[in-house]
Amino acid sequence: MGHVANSIIELTGVTLTLPSLAGEVNILRGISLDIAPGEAVGMVGPSGSGKSTLLMVLAGLESPSGGSVKVAGAELTKLDEDGLARFRRDHVGIVFQSFHLVPTMTALENVAVPLELAGRADAFERAEEELKLVGLSHRLDHYPGQLSGGEQQRVALARAVAGDPEILMADEPTGNLDAATGEQIVELMFDLHRRRGTTMVLITHDNELAGMCDKVVRLKDGKVESVHPGARRAAAQ
Ligand SMILES: Nc1ncnc2c1ncn2[C@@H]1O[C@H](COP(=O)(O)OP(=O)(O)O)[C@@H](O)[C@H]1O
Ligand SMILES: [Mg+2]
Repeated sequence: MGHVANSIIELTGVTLTLPSLAGEVNILRGISLDIAPGEAVGMVGPSGSGKSTLLMVLAGLESPSGGSVKVAGAELTKLDEDGLARFRRDHVGIVFQSFHLVPTMTALENVAVPLELAGRADAFERAEEELKLVGLSHRLDHYPGQLSGGEQQRVALARAVAGDPEILMADEPTGNLDAATGEQIVELMFDLHRRRGTTMVLITHDNELAGMCDKVVRLKDGKVESVHPGARRAAAQ
């Protein structure tokens, strides 16, 4: 750890302070963290410890107040809005707890349209392949409202990975799913991570799930409390 040239994510002293009626709130309070290419990282910690905020910073969706955020070779704090949008398009796939699908687009369109916007001529073929990989080839023309929660999350996962991102980020992707369905989503994510060598940052409340990762980062009060090998990795050593 800590080898600059060998990190795909390198955070140094990242702070985020927001104003509130009660004064300034220090949400992130000096986070430094290195993640190697291809690593699966589980992010855990109590509610309110800053996990979602940190993910937003990593994805270039939230600008920190201080520190350095290097992701996939880019210093995000130096990019403007257009640069950040390009960075996300080229490097990052994100899955949220609440799916965030476009309700007026079919499953196929939800996956294909971002690819089309990214300039890919084969957007619809590619989207169909991705939906097949998550077991949804029979649901291509369904709207999100016609799909179960688990199916919607599969569409969101297909959309996140369709552009072959170097980094897959997920914020409690199983939080709105029953245990069995959540397990299927997790299996799909790890399968993609292994097959494509995708770096994965996975926020979860589930210790067992976090333990499946190479590394577990525990946040507390906007700081990194600990970094441990995942249970499986620890057992192999
Ligand atoms: N836009 C905001 N304005 C003020 N406080 C916020 C904002 N977003 C998050 N917070 C606060 O920052 C802290 C961390 O939030 P969050 O990153 O969502 O934590 P977690 O995902 O670990 O539950 C919480 O105390 C939350 O209330
Ligand atoms: Mg959160």
